[in-house]
Amino acid sequence: MTLLKHLMSGIAATAVLATGAMAADLTIVHGSVGRDQEVLRGQLDRFEAETDHTVTIVSMPESTTDQFGQYKLWLAAQSSDVDVYRMDVIWAPQLAAHFVDLTPHVADIIDGFVPAAVESQTVDGKLVALPMFLGAPALYYRSDLLEKHGEEVPTTWQELTATAQRVMDAERAAGNDDMWGFVWQGAAYEGLTCNAQEWTNSMGGGRIVDLDGAISINNEKAAAALDLAASWVGTITPEGVLNYKEEDARGVFQSGNAVFMRNWNYAYALGNGDDSPIKGKFGVAILPSGDGGQSTATLGGWHLGVSKYSENQEAAIELVRFLNNYDNQKERAIVTSRPPTVSAVYLDPEVAEKQEFIPLWKPVVDNALPRPSAATLRKYNEVSAAFWTAAHKTLSGNGTGAENLAQLENELKRLKGPRW
Ligand code: GLC
Repeated sequence: MTLLKHLMSGIAATAVLATGAMAADLTIVHGSVGRDQEVLRGQLDRFEAETDHTVTIVSMPESTTDQFGQYKLWLAAQSSDVDVYRMDVIWAPQLAAHFVDLTPHVADIIDGFVPAAVESQTVDGKLVALPMFLGAPALYYRSDLLEKHGEEVPTTWQELTATAQRVMDAERAAGNDDMWGFVWQGAAYEGLTCNAQEWTNSMGGGRIVDLDGAISINNEKAAAALDLAASWVGTITPEGVLNYKEEDARGVFQSGNAVFMRNWNYAYALGNGDDSPIKGKFGVAILPSGDGGQSTATLGGWHLGVSKYSENQEAAIELVRFLNNYDNQKERAIVTSRPPTVSAVYLDPEVAEKQEFIPLWKPVVDNALPRPSAATLRKYNEVSAAFWTAAHKTLSGNGTGAENLAQLENELKRLKGPRW
């Protein structure tokens, strides 16, 4: 902003507002799945009415991997075009240098936020983003079909494989040719890292990179987990899954053509929407486990950071606080079934009444497994790409789990060098 514009908007702001930053034209970049942006726009309209600022949404592609590429370009160019970034939970260590430390600006409210969420966004004592919502995926299942065919909700991956096959076969035999057993996210992107970490960890194969930075993923149990997932492709899962992201899987499940789906929390509200063919016909369970492992839900979520290159930092901070206040967190929880980051919202009786999934899923969110972005620091994106590549090759029939994990181990060692 030029000095003159600064002065002029300063005068306008003093005239219009008793408190708050000068009237500013803000830009927020924001990905969208389901009704995220519709809810955001409504909240921004209220912010505009209350503050005299205006806010434009710049819409991002669905894939978090594509978003990350675009964000890096803007940030490397030190662009002032974007004031507020909605950031994936995994990015804070890699992007910290480009963001304002929010610590002093949220000191009065931060104690109300879920501590683990705050910790995930804190890098060397700097709060890179204020947590907006969390994610912990579920196994979505068609309760009507399981009942019809006398089946139980599976708790192991082996049971899921067998149940999906039986119900799919029976439905197809009854003339439902489009029915599939299990849909998930198998495209070569960050979403596959989440799915594959759930398979390997829940089947006893451990983490992609351990908390202390050690690399132990090249083991028999992790290899068996990838091989089992590969066996689904073309049998209970359509081959197209190799290109599926979240919305592709939801499209199949919500149109009634899959028995099971692995997806994030947002799919719950949409599946129960008035226009949904599966409204009232599905349930959610924790993801299966196997071979002595424990059910694993990858920790997801999106959080709001203020760019260091913004010329409207004060107003941008006001916006980030506003979007995360109790009422807006509550509205998001009810309408989009995204787990909130303000702890008290989980206990709100109106949330429990209108969106039962939120209190039900609190323990799963609390126990969700982070990806190794803190352990691998600035290398996380390459680590994740190496992992999803090993998984994608195995799923595509291009090498076995064991072969691809041996290659992955070499690649991770190379990326690590003497230390992460
Ligand atoms: C969801 C999660 C995010 C994850 C992404 C992968 O958006 O919230 O953390 O990286 O899915 O596709």
